[in-house]
Amino acid sequence: MAQTNKPSGPVPFTRITADRYISPEYMLQERDKLWAKTWLVAGVAQDVAEPGDFFVFDLEPESIIVSRAEDGTINAFYNVCQHRGARLLLTDQGAMETYTCPYHGWVYNNDGSLCEVPEEDKFSRGVPREGLSLQTLRVDVWAGAVWVCMDNNAPSLQEYLGPIIEMIEPFRPGDMRLVEDQTCRLECNWKAVFDNFGELYHVEHIHPQHELIFDCPTSTAEYFNGGHTRVLIDGFTVNSRLPIPEEVPPTQWAQMKALGMKRENYKGRVLDVRRDVQLRKRELGPSLGYNYDSLSDDQLSDIVQYNIFPNAVLVLQPEEFWILRSRPHATDPNKCYWDKFALRMLPDVQLQENAKVEFPALQNRANVSFNLDQDSDGTVRPEHDEFDQEAIIAGEKTMTITLDQDIHLIRDVQKGMHSRGFKEAWLNDDESRVQHYHSWIDKYINQQFN
Ligand code: FES
Ligand SMILES: [Fe+2]
Repeated sequence: MAQTNKPSGPVPFTRITADRYISPEYMLQERDKLWAKTWLVAGVAQDVAEPGDFFVFDLEPESIIVSRAEDGTINAFYNVCQHRGARLLLTDQGAMETYTCPYHGWVYNNDGSLCEVPEEDKFSRGVPREGLSLQTLRVDVWAGAVWVCMDNNAPSLQEYLGPIIEMIEPFRPGDMRLVEDQTCRLECNWKAVFDNFGELYHVEHIHPQHELIFDCPTSTAEYFNGGHTRVLIDGFTVNSRLPIPEEVPPTQWAQMKALGMKRENYKGRVLDVRRDVQLRKRELGPSLGYNYDSLSDDQLSDIVQYNIFPNAVLVLQPEEFWILRSRPHATDPNKCYWDKFALRMLPDVQLQENAKVEFPALQNRANVSFNLDQDSDGTVRPEHDEFDQEAIIAGEKTMTITLDQDIHLIRDVQKGMHSRGFKEAWLNDDESRVQHYHSWIDKYINQQFN
């Protein structure tokens, strides 16, 4: 890949001052001007695969129900009873034909319509069913995720994401299954953790393991209308700015072995691994149960990350897809929720059986991707696991080593935002994705899109 971390077009300069991370007033502006105007990842589509399935997406102080009705349509509703405003559903996820309000027992069908009102004769004004359905918001399904938008005047999800749709489709994220569902309660502003995924400048400092898997200095960054960005990073290689090791690093062995590649064949030829991984995956894909036909050679070895405005990070490899998402705290700009949905492409047994190539090391679930270290194999939905950042720092929980390293650091960034000694960020070219992102934050906050 070409060496460029520079923006493909001019990135408007925006001052990134501390107040946007710590000010309650700024947080309130975001509520109306950002969260209420953008398309947001609400959850994974497999959680509403069948009629009756529902899940709740909390975006404090909002809570949103996403459900599949009996007629198969997917709907999104504000999770609030139309009688006196009680929160309707208190469970995260499940399957129900009707929702009963815990306060006075109003019952709604899972398409949002009001179906039962206890002691209805007491309402001498009547109970006009149509006006008292659950309040809907816009909903769409793409890339294995359900997306919602509170603004009826916003563009469609397709327009909102623009060219990104076609770029991601070849990975077939909609065919992947959830293998991990985690939420970490972080002590930082929701943008502080998102910014962290907008630059690779920190990688050599806090993620030393990456220099033996990826070549971050030659990454390519791109910038999209709407505040989205992406970065493409060569995988199955090493950091080209550092001395090239003689032997293939242990971080790459396991994946190479699954592809029938011998480590000793690459002594002194570590930079050849990436190309050979591409060739082996192309050759052995069907026997491993993976259909790689829609992917380019680079996509077979590399990693690509999309930052979707305002709060979702999509990390794609052929066999695995992460959706990372930050959500604001209800009242405190110094806190947020950091979610990780990991999805995996399950090997296709039929493809394996039909495969022409006989591969002696054939496994049911060949580990050919860097991140495939979750316990779940995708056949049973994993439980949602929510914990404090202290659990990560104490080593009791992990979101993978890389995310754990970020979490260790990010609370101290938030503390720094409160210092009299800090006024605003001073970014370099490698952090232009952060700059691009914040320039779009400004557009939304100022409601000026030209
Ligand atoms: S608030 Fe829901 S039934 Fe009264
Ligand atoms: Fe990081």
